[in-house]
Amino acid sequence: MKREIMTTADGSTTIHIPEWNEQYHSKHGAIQEAYHVFIKTGFNHLSKALSPIKILEIGFGTGLNALITSLEAKNQNREVNYCGVEGYPVSQEEMSQLNYATALDDASAEAYFQKIHKGNWEENFVVHDQFKLIKQEKMFDEIENKKEFDLIYFDAFGARVQPELWEVSMFQRMYEAVKDNGVLVTYSAKGSVRRALQEVGFVVERLDGPPGKREMLRATKRN
Ligand SMILES: C[S@@+](CC[C@H](N)C(=O)[O-])C[C@H]1O[C@@H](n2cnc3c(N)ncnc32)[C@H](O)[C@@H]1O
Repeated sequence: MKREIMTTADGSTTIHIPEWNEQYHSKHGAIQEAYHVFIKTGFNHLSKALSPIKILEIGFGTGLNALITSLEAKNQNREVNYCGVEGYPVSQEEMSQLNYATALDDASAEAYFQKIHKGNWEENFVVHDQFKLIKQEKMFDEIENKKEFDLIYFDAFGARVQPELWEVSMFQRMYEAVKDNGVLVTYSAKGSVRRALQEVGFVVERLDGPPGKREMLRATKRN
C-alpha cells in the first residue's frame, strides 16, 4: 500500500495511508499522543520495583514509541527490554523523512533514533545502557509469547480498517503474552474493544485520552 509522510498538529510527522485514509499516529499530534497513551498511562503506571521492564509493541511502525521509551528509560534511570513486532517495516528512506529527533526536546534523541533504525531485525541490540531492543518482522497472529511482558503498547491501525486486530482472538494472544499483573494500553476507547478485552480476562479502565480524543483504555491482567 502507498505510504506518505504528513505533519500532525504538534509539528511532528507521521505516515499516512491514502487508500485507507489512516495514519500511524493521531493527526492531532503524533508525539503528544504517543507520550500520553504509552508513557504517561502505560510506562509511568508500572511499579518502580520492576527491572528490567519488558515491553511488547504492536506494531513497531516508525519507531516513535521505542524512541520515547528509550528517552524515558534514560531520564528515569529504569532498565527496559523492548520487543517491537512489525509486519511491514518502514524503509530507511521513509525513516529519514521523520522529524522525531528534532521535534523531541532531548539531545540524545537523534543518536537513539539512528540506533533504533540501524539495528538488525531479529537480533537483540543495545540502544543505550538501560534500553535493549529487538525488532521482529512478523505478523501479530504469529506472536506466541507466554507470560513474558510487563507492558503491551497496543498500537495497531484502527478497527475501521483492520477489525480483525481488535477481536477476542487477538486479545487472548495478548493476555497470554503478559505476566500476571501485566498491563496493555491502547488509544482506542471503543465499547467493542473494551468488551473483547474483558472477555479474555483483563480488568479494563477508561482513562482520559490524548488531545483530540476523549478516552483511551488500560487493561490489567489480575489473577
Ligand atoms: C498504527 S501503526 C503503528 C505505529 C507505531 N507504533 C509507531 O510509533 O510508528 C500500525 C502498524 O502495524 C503494522 N501492521 C498492520 N497489520 C499488521 C499485522 N497483521 N501484523 C504485523 N504488523 C501489522 C503496520 O505496518 C503499522 O506499522
